Amino acid sequence: MSNISVNFKKSKIDAKEIMAYSDEVKKIHMTMNNNLNNKNEFLGWLNLPSKHNKMELDKIKKCAKKIQENSDVLVVIGIGGSYLGARAVIEALTNSFYNLQSKEERKFPQILYVGNNLSSTYINDIIELIKDKDFSINVISKSGTTTEPAIAFRIFRNLLEDKYGIKEAQQRIYVTTDKEKGALKQLANEEDYETFVIPDNVGGRYSVLTPVGLLPIATTGIDIDKLMEGARFAQEKYNDPDLRYNDCYKYAVVRNILYKNKKNVEILACYNPKLHFFIEWWKQLYGESEGKDGKGIFPAGVEFTTDLHSLGQYIQEGERCLFETVLSLEDEESDITIQYEDDNLDGLNYLANKKLSYVNKKAMEGTIEAHVDGGVPNIIIEMKELSEDTIGHLIYFFEKACAISGSLLGVNPFNQPGVEKYKTNMFELLKKPGYEKKK
Ligand code: PA5
Repeated sequence: MSNISVNFKKSKIDAKEIMAYSDEVKKIHMTMNNNLNNKNEFLGWLNLPSKHNKMELDKIKKCAKKIQENSDVLVVIGIGGSYLGARAVIEALTNSFYNLQSKEERKFPQILYVGNNLSSTYINDIIELIKDKDFSINVISKSGTTTEPAIAFRIFRNLLEDKYGIKEAQQRIYVTTDKEKGALKQLANEEDYETFVIPDNVGGRYSVLTPVGLLPIATTGIDIDKLMEGARFAQEKYNDPDLRYNDCYKYAVVRNILYKNKKNVEILACYNPKLHFFIEWWKQLYGESEGKDGKGIFPAGVEFTTDLHSLGQYIQEGERCLFETVLSLEDEESDITIQYEDDNLDGLNYLANKKLSYVNKKAMEGTIEAHVDGGVPNIIIEMKELSEDTIGHLIYFFEKACAISGSLLGVNPFNQPGVEKYKTNMFELLKKPGYEKKK
C-alpha cells in the first residue's frame, strides 16, 4: 500500500505553534464525524472510500467496458467539480500523450472534454476531430442546469443522433446527475439514458470518487478499485483526532498559520507535467471552498521546471505573500541516462551516465532551498510514485485537509455563493426567462 508523507520542516512553523491548534482541530473533527449522516452537511465524501457501493462500481465497470468496445472516443461533458477530478486522475495515470497515441498503444478510447468552456472554436475543433470516429457521451452535472455543459450536451447529443439515429444514440449516452432534480435528470428519464447518481451530500468539487469521476476514469483502463483502496487507506489514516499523528490536519493548520502570517497565496508545485490537472483540481477545491467572506488563501499552481523560467523570478524575489506546497515524486515511471560525448561541446559531460530523474530531483532540491531562503515557506508532500493508490490517497488527503482548513478559517467549505454572480449577469444579458433586468 502506498504511503504519502508530509514534511513541514521548511514551512518554518514550529511544532509548538502547530500543536496550539489541537483542541480546535479535535472539535472540528468531532463535529464532522457527528454530522456524517446529516444530509444537509455535505459530508458524504468523508466515508465514500469505505462505504462505496459495490453494485454501483460494477455498473461503472460494465458501462466503461461497453464504451471501450464500441467507441474510439468518450466525450466527457462537465465543468468545475463535474470535470476536473476525472481529468486530474486520467492525466496523472495514463501516458503523457494518451490521446495522441495510436489505438493499439492506447488500448482504450480517447477522452475529450467539452462543456468546460463556451468557446465555439474549441467545440468546432472537437466536432471536426470526432466526426468520423465512433463515440459515446458522458454528461455530468449535479444541478443538471449548468449552462456550459447543457449547451455542449445539446450540440453533441444532436451530433450523436445524426450519426447513429435516435435509438442507437440513446445507447451511447451516459448521464451522471442528481437522483431527481434538474433538467438533465428529466431528459434522462424521458429518453431512458443510462444514469448514475451523484449523492445529495457530496458537493461537486468533492465528487471525484463518485460516478462523476469514476466512469471516465474507468473508461481509460485505470483500476478504480485500487484508486478507491488508496482513498480508503487515507480515510483510515487521517481519521486520527490527535494532531500530532495526523499530517492531513497538520497541513490544514500550517496553511492557516501561514495565512495569519500574511502568506495569502499558496502555490502547489509539481515536477512532472502529468500532475498539471491534479493541480487544476486542487485549485478549484481550495478556491471555491475557502475564498469567501473576504477571506481565503489564493490557490495558484506551477509546473516546474517549466515555470521556473516564467514565474520563478516572482516566486524568488517578488511580493513576500507566498508559500509553496511541493508534490515530490520519489520514482519516475521510466528514466533516461544522459550519454557521454567525446567532444563535450554542450558542456554536459558532468552529467554523463546520470539519470534525468536525478537531475530533476536536484532541480527540485535546489529550488526548495532557494525559495525557502528567499522567504517562501515550503511544505513538501512526498509520494513514492504515480499510481492508482497514491492518487486515491492524495485526493482524500486534500479533500479532508480542505474541509478542516476552511473550518479553521471560519468559512463554510461546502458552498460557493460567489459563483452565482456572473451567472446572474450573464443570464440578464442573454435575456433568460426569469432574469429580465429590472428598470
Ligand atoms: O464544486 C461545485 O459545486 C461546482 O464547482 C460545480 O461542480 C460546478 O459548478 C458544476 O456544477 P454542476 O455539476 O451542477 O453542473
